[in-house]
Amino acid sequence: MSTDTAKPVKETKAQKVERLKQEKNPLECFEEIRQFAREGLVSVPDAWIKTYFRWWGVYTQGDGGGAIGGIGGEGRATPYFMLRIRLSNGFITAPQLHAIAGLAEKYAGGIADITVRQNIQLHWITIKDLPEVLETLFKTGLTSMATCGDVTRNITGCPLAGLDAHELCDASSLVDEVTQLLVNNPDFYNLPRKYKISISGCQDWCAYPEINDLAFTPVVREQAGKREIGFSVRVGGGLSTEPHLAVRLNAFVPWAQVVPVSKAVSELFRDASVLRENRERARLKYLFLQHGWTAESFLQEVERKLGYKLDPAVAEQAPDDVFRDHAGVHPQKQLGLFYVGASVLRGRLTPQQLQVAANLAERYGNGELRTTIAQNLVIVNVPEEKTRDVAQALEAAGLHVAASAFWRGAVACTGSEFCKLAITETKAFTRWLVEELEERLPAFDQHLKLNVTGCPNSCGQQRIADIGLEGKKIKFEGRTSDAYYFCLGGAVGEHAGFARSIGYRCAASEVPDAIERLLRSYLEQRHTGENLRQFFARHSETALRTFLAGEERAAVPRDASPGRVPHGLEG
Ligand code: HEM
Ligand code: SF4
Repeated sequence: MSTDTAKPVKETKAQKVERLKQEKNPLECFEEIRQFAREGLVSVPDAWIKTYFRWWGVYTQGDGGGAIGGIGGEGRATPYFMLRIRLSNGFITAPQLHAIAGLAEKYAGGIADITVRQNIQLHWITIKDLPEVLETLFKTGLTSMATCGDVTRNITGCPLAGLDAHELCDASSLVDEVTQLLVNNPDFYNLPRKYKISISGCQDWCAYPEINDLAFTPVVREQAGKREIGFSVRVGGGLSTEPHLAVRLNAFVPWAQVVPVSKAVSELFRDASVLRENRERARLKYLFLQHGWTAESFLQEVERKLGYKLDPAVAEQAPDDVFRDHAGVHPQKQLGLFYVGASVLRGRLTPQQLQVAANLAERYGNGELRTTIAQNLVIVNVPEEKTRDVAQALEAAGLHVAASAFWRGAVACTGSEFCKLAITETKAFTRWLVEELEERLPAFDQHLKLNVTGCPNSCGQQRIADIGLEGKKIKFEGRTSDAYYFCLGGAVGEHAGFARSIGYRCAASEVPDAIERLLRSYLEQRHTGENLRQFFARHSETALRTFLAGEERAAVPRDASPGRVPHGLEG
C-alpha cells in the first residue's frame, strides 16, 4: 500500500508514526534495504529515512553543527548513517570485536563508540555499504536490529554476570530469554515508543534498574527454611526531559516467572493506546506521570494478564554509593581467574584498540569480553599470572586499566559531531575537560561520575551523575558558544535521586575552572569520609553555585525542554 493513498488530510506526528508502523514491520524488510543500496540514497523514501531505518539501528548522521543551522530543531543531515550494534548484557567475543574493528576501519571513519546501554555505535556508513555491514554483523552472530525505534532496546545486565564473586545469580540467560521473547518477534515490533529493560543478578545494580522501563534485580527469600533467589521488579523508569525513577512493585518474582512477567508488562505497554497519542509522552513512565497509575494498579493489571497473583515482595538492600566502572584488575568467583577492565574515555575506540583488546582476550583469556554502561571494556577469564601482561598491553594502547578519577568517571553522549539534536559538541570536549582536570587536580582521590550530554534529552545520563553537564548555547565574548548547565548530586541505588539543577551555567571553555573550584571546595570543606554525593546533599543550590562560580551569583534557568523533537529524530 502506498503511504500517500492512506495518508489522512491532517496528521499529527504520532498519527503518522502509528500509520507507518501499521503499514509494515521494518524488521521484515531487509530486501528493501538491499534495493536502496543498489539504487542509491535518492531512492530511499522519507518513511524509511525518518522512521523505518530506526528499527535497524540506523539514523541519519548530522553535519557536525548539531541542531543549530538546521530547521525546526533538527540539524542538517549528511549522506551518512549511524548504526547501533546490539550487545545483549554487554557480551561480546573476540571474533565479533575483530569484525567490528574491521567494519570501523573499512566503513566507519576509524571510530566505534561504546554506548551507555552496552552497545557499540558506528558512524559514517553509506547506504551503498549498509547491506554488507549488516551481513558482516549477521555472520559473526551480531545484529543492529531493534537497537532503535519503538521496540525493546538492548537489554542491559551486569557485565560480570557469571563471574562476580558477590552476585546472587547469573541472570544473563534471562536476558537472552527475554530478548528472544520480545525482539524480532512480530508481536512486539510495534510498541508505543522505545522500551528499555535491564535484568541483573548482581547486588551492585550496575545496569541502572532505576532508569529502565522494566527492571529486575535479585533478592533472596527464606521460606520454611528454604532459600530461594528471585527478583524485585520495577517499572516506569527513564531519563529524558522528564526523568522518573522506576516504581518498585510489591511482588517477588521467582526465576521462572521473569519471562512471563516481562511478557505481561510488555503487553500492557504495547496495548496502552493512551500512550500512542503523543510521542513526547509515550514512554511507560507516563502511565504514572500522567494517567494516574500507581504501583498497586500496575501490579493488578500485570496479575490480571498473568492470571494469578504474585507473592508479595521481600526486603531488599539497594546498593550504597558503589562505583560501577569495572575498571582495574579484580578476582572472579572462579579461583585463579581475573577480569581486567579498561576505562574507555567517552567510550570511543579506534579499530587498532578494538583489535588489541580482541587479541588479548584470545591470547590470555577465553576470548570473551564485556561492555559496560560506563562505556568501558572488560576482558574476562584471565589467569592471575597473565593479568599484568594484559593490563600493560591495554595501557600501551591507551586503554587505561589504572586511570585518574576523571578519566574513569567521564561519560559522554554522541553530541554534535554526529547527532542532529545536539546543542553542543561532547566527545572532544570531554577529552579536553578530563585532561584539564587531571592536570589541575592530579591527586584527586574520590570516585566521581562526570556525565556530559549535548542537549536535555539526557542520552549521556547527566541526571544520575555526581556532576552532570547539559549542553546549551550562550553568547560568550561576543560569539555564540557551547556552554554547559550544571546538575549536581545525582545517584542511583540506595540514595537514588536526580541531580539537582544548580542554576549555574558557563561557557564550555570555562567548565574546567568551575569544576576545579567546586572540587577544591569539596576537598577543603568535606567532613571525614564524606563522599561527593553526601557533600552535595548537605549544601544548598546557592552554596553549590557559589563554589562553582567562585562568587555569589544569581541562578539562571535551566531551560530544560529542547522543544518538540522533530519527526524521525527520536532516540
Ligand atoms: C527524543 C530524542 C531523544 C531522547 C529523549 C533520547 C534519550 C536517551 C536517553 C535517556 C538515553 C539514556 C540511556 C538509558 O536510558 O539507559 C539515551 C541513550 C542513547 N542515545 Fe538518545 N535520545 C534521543 C535522541 C538521540 C539521538 C538523535 C541520538 C543520536 C546520536 C541518540 C543517541 C543515543 C545513544 C548512542 C544512546 C545509548 C543508547 C544505546 O546504546 O541503546 N539519542 N537516549
Ligand atoms: S543527549 Fe542525545 S539527543 Fe542530545 S546531543 Fe546527546 S546524543 Fe544527541
